[in-house]
Amino acid sequence: MSNELMKENIKRAQAEIAKKREEVSQGAMRQKYHFMTEAGWLNDPNGLIFFKGKYHFFYQYNPYDSFWGSMHWGHAISDDMLHWEYLPLALAPSETYDNHPKGGCFSGSAIEHEGRLYLLYTASTNYGDGLVQNQCMAYSDDGFNFIKSEKNPVIAAPPIGYEVGEFRDPKVWKHGEYFYLVCAGKKNDLGQALLYRSKNLEDWTFFNILAESRGELGYMWECPDFFPLKNADGEKYVLTFSPMGVKERTSIYLVGDMNYETGKFNYSTVGNIDWGFDYYAPQSFVDQKGRRILVAWANSWEWMPWWKDWGPTFKEGWCGSFNLPREAILDSDNTVKFVPIEELAAIRKSPKTIREKILVEKDDLLIPTENGNCFELKMSIDLTSSTAGSFELKLRSNDRLSTNVTFDLKKQMMFVNRENSDDWSQGETKSNLLLKDKTMLNIHLFVDQSSIEIFTDDYKTSHSLNVFAAEDQNKNYVSVSEGKLVILELETWELDKTM
Ligand code: FRU
Repeated sequence: MSNELMKENIKRAQAEIAKKREEVSQGAMRQKYHFMTEAGWLNDPNGLIFFKGKYHFFYQYNPYDSFWGSMHWGHAISDDMLHWEYLPLALAPSETYDNHPKGGCFSGSAIEHEGRLYLLYTASTNYGDGLVQNQCMAYSDDGFNFIKSEKNPVIAAPPIGYEVGEFRDPKVWKHGEYFYLVCAGKKNDLGQALLYRSKNLEDWTFFNILAESRGELGYMWECPDFFPLKNADGEKYVLTFSPMGVKERTSIYLVGDMNYETGKFNYSTVGNIDWGFDYYAPQSFVDQKGRRILVAWANSWEWMPWWKDWGPTFKEGWCGSFNLPREAILDSDNTVKFVPIEELAAIRKSPKTIREKILVEKDDLLIPTENGNCFELKMSIDLTSSTAGSFELKLRSNDRLSTNVTFDLKKQMMFVNRENSDDWSQGETKSNLLLKDKTMLNIHLFVDQSSIEIFTDDYKTSHSLNVFAAEDQNKNYVSVSEGKLVILELETWELDKTM
């Protein structure tokens, strides 16, 4: 019986995790409050849902190695998305359609229906003639033990003319009397979001191409997600995805109008969710407070321009963490803000605040922190009285190394450079700064053991990156090379270890 085989494979994987758990928990590069695994490799967030009173996060997981391969679904639950309890794996490869060392149970999503938890995922295999991907379903009544549907694959192949090995990442939701699912498809070397619908989560019919690339948005849209957001003017729909083949853009959002009669989405706004090196495959869900929350994988694939590898943490028996959960908020101009969840305020300690005006003139100001390796910072700059053309944050520094974030006020640009971060990482990311008509610039950032996330422009611009800095890289500075910078307020907090 196939479900018996899945149970056996989960047991085998759990035994492997048990062997490594202790060693990985001692790792010097382990994150302190960003979600990561007990041991092994993690990539995309999957099946994010608030179910029976708990946050459930599932994730693309290889328990056997610190590198990608044989995808399982890891599983953890939480009350606040910061403190986690790891559970036995939810899905393991076990069927001809999903059992392959370079395949497995690929990304997908979750939905609750009549008290039952359903997972829609991609089965990826290779029968010797290239990748074959289709969409499968598994369900659970307790939220912990899953059974793969007898009817799998529930979507056996993409429509005619599409590549059978580039058909993945179903995201499911309900609207009116139908369940809908959007997944990635590829035709004529262009990425598309394909829309399906169903009345029972098992029998699906292709409905329409929800949206598509004309070349400008790449040749494959991994992990598409589609959801409504409201502002004072009404409701809009947002399509997010991670495009392949658009160089530095790792996660895009489109805002527009959905027509459920035709299955067509017409968009008028195109934005980046994050401009950093390490923000990929975000997935969203609505929680019990009604918030639309996005979580992404904090890393990047080998086809990205700055890619060198996945970082040195494999030496400690693990690889990969998630970016902080962010709440998506639709602004009045139909762009989207991505705000770190408010729960983070509960893990703050040792506040350090400077409230009077601080003047930094051709100098470095040491940012006061209790723990310079793991902290949150908020600061506001008075743009009207500052004369500096630009300023820098030098983060995770020692005498030799630092990660440099430049705010160029003249060019209205932001740069994040990790060429000299850690004797490992490389590259620079850049974005616009939206300074027109502004008198203040606000910066909010989070530093964890091996990552930095920087938010500005009222959470419309962010850069996320991994930095594998040593323990003695615990100094952080604001630095001005010409003119003066007027800081109105600067606050830092040490953050509790939650993982
Ligand atoms: C995105 C992705 C998905 C796929 C999964 C495999 O990072 O490539 O398209 O389902 O990872 O692990």
